[in-house]
Amino acid sequence: MSEQPSNSSTTSSTTTRRNFLKSSSAAAGIAAFAASSVHAGGTDETIRVGLVGCGGRGTGAIQNALDADANTKLVAIGDTFADRIELCLGELSHKDYGDRVKVDPEYAFTGFDNYKKVIDACDVVILTTPPHFRPQHFRYAVEQGKHVFIEKPVAVDAPGIHHVLESCRMAKEKNLSIVSGLCWRYDLGVRETMRQILEEKKIGDIVAIESNYNTGTLWHKGNKPEWSQMEYQIRNWLYFPWLSGDHITEQAIHTLDKTAWLLGDIQPTKAMAMGGRQQRVDPKYGNIYDHFTVFYEYPTGQHVYFTCRQQDDTTNRTEDRVLGTKGQAEILKHVVSPNEGKRWRYRGPKPSMYLVEHQELFKSIRESSPINNGHYMCNSTMLAIMGRMAAYSGKTLTWDECFNSQQRLGPDSYEWTDYPTAPVAIPGKYELA
Ligand SMILES: NC(=O)c1ccc[n+]([C@@H]2O[C@H](COP(=O)([O-])OP(=O)(O)OC[C@H]3O[C@@H](n4cnc5c(N)ncnc54)[C@H](O)[C@@H]3O)[C@@H](O)[C@H]2O)c1
Repeated sequence: MSEQPSNSSTTSSTTTRRNFLKSSSAAAGIAAFAASSVHAGGTDETIRVGLVGCGGRGTGAIQNALDADANTKLVAIGDTFADRIELCLGELSHKDYGDRVKVDPEYAFTGFDNYKKVIDACDVVILTTPPHFRPQHFRYAVEQGKHVFIEKPVAVDAPGIHHVLESCRMAKEKNLSIVSGLCWRYDLGVRETMRQILEEKKIGDIVAIESNYNTGTLWHKGNKPEWSQMEYQIRNWLYFPWLSGDHITEQAIHTLDKTAWLLGDIQPTKAMAMGGRQQRVDPKYGNIYDHFTVFYEYPTGQHVYFTCRQQDDTTNRTEDRVLGTKGQAEILKHVVSPNEGKRWRYRGPKPSMYLVEHQELFKSIRESSPINNGHYMCNSTMLAIMGRMAAYSGKTLTWDECFNSQQRLGPDSYEWTDYPTAPVAIPGKYELA
């Protein structure tokens, strides 16, 4: 990617703690919270957290934020749907957070512009909507000078990736922390396993990676007569590529991200892929596939053999098996097996990676040492989009063809109307713009 921010995950900065509060204090709509924020210097200011997208992950991520730093507080919350906000706040009310999650009803926002009001009211925003909205929400957060926890994937198409890359560059200039929800990067066992392979060179040079995210099916929320097509699709966003990017982007990105990490987060030269839908053929499942196979070729001569599947009653396998010149490794098993010498297995602490990513986020803010995960979160998302493009089109595609694609998925504006579902992509016929 020519237009990418630096690969560094942590950079030093001249931002002071006072500055991070000041930048957010300048935003509109926060007067009511001024009293609850501690503006004095030191490491104990209350950090006001906002949540955009109050589903399963958002409800989990806000708890991770509250658990990670004792002086954080949920101050604003947004979702397209009021019932999702109620569910989220209801679940949080059963936990032991007391006043830290008492969101004033005036600061619970619905509709498509909810994100602006949430972002205006906080210092750190957690973005956990369906990925289609991420580029727009992320840009606004960065423009307003807010630190961001940004769930994966960060976009569903190449124009979205370019937009997020630009936002990451802006975030770097503003010394904002951007922590990605590609959570395996924050798993201590995976980090150490990677270190054994990449730094200790326990299996020599990597030749190829067999990489899988093969699992069962996920939830479906049904339909209601009063729902427009737009509401139906957003409530069942997994099944619509314009919202989710298809399951290779939405879910299997976790595996592709580890693969990318192993290969130095560089770009493949080309991808050849196959995919389709066999089990999930009912129209209620929108227009996504239920399986993909992608072969990625790298300029280094390395190869990735990747599969992902969401089909019930099939074998589950989520792993990256790394084949090196001097041995093999399995990343999620935390096992490194040199051809000669002893097998290595991680035996260190195993805190929740979801907690660690928030601990590192808040630490970086308090220590004015911003994290910027921009490069790898964009690169790994693009890798997944590339696999989808190659499978949908049935064509061997180069990185440049995919990265420079102008194809933007989804409507230009959002309204509660009937939005048609595109046909399921047929390889050989699907047109990639
Ligand atoms: N890192 C992980 O392990 C992990 C795990 C699960 C999900 N995720 C990611 O988190 C994101 C959310 O997934 P989820 O499982 O929580 O889905 P979900 O459907 O449970 O939650 C999404 C929420 O966003 C809301 N929403 C939709 N459009 C919105 C908009 N424009 N503005 C505000 N809210 C909007 C929905 O109403 C819903 O409440 C996805 O990108 C997913 O890939 C990551």
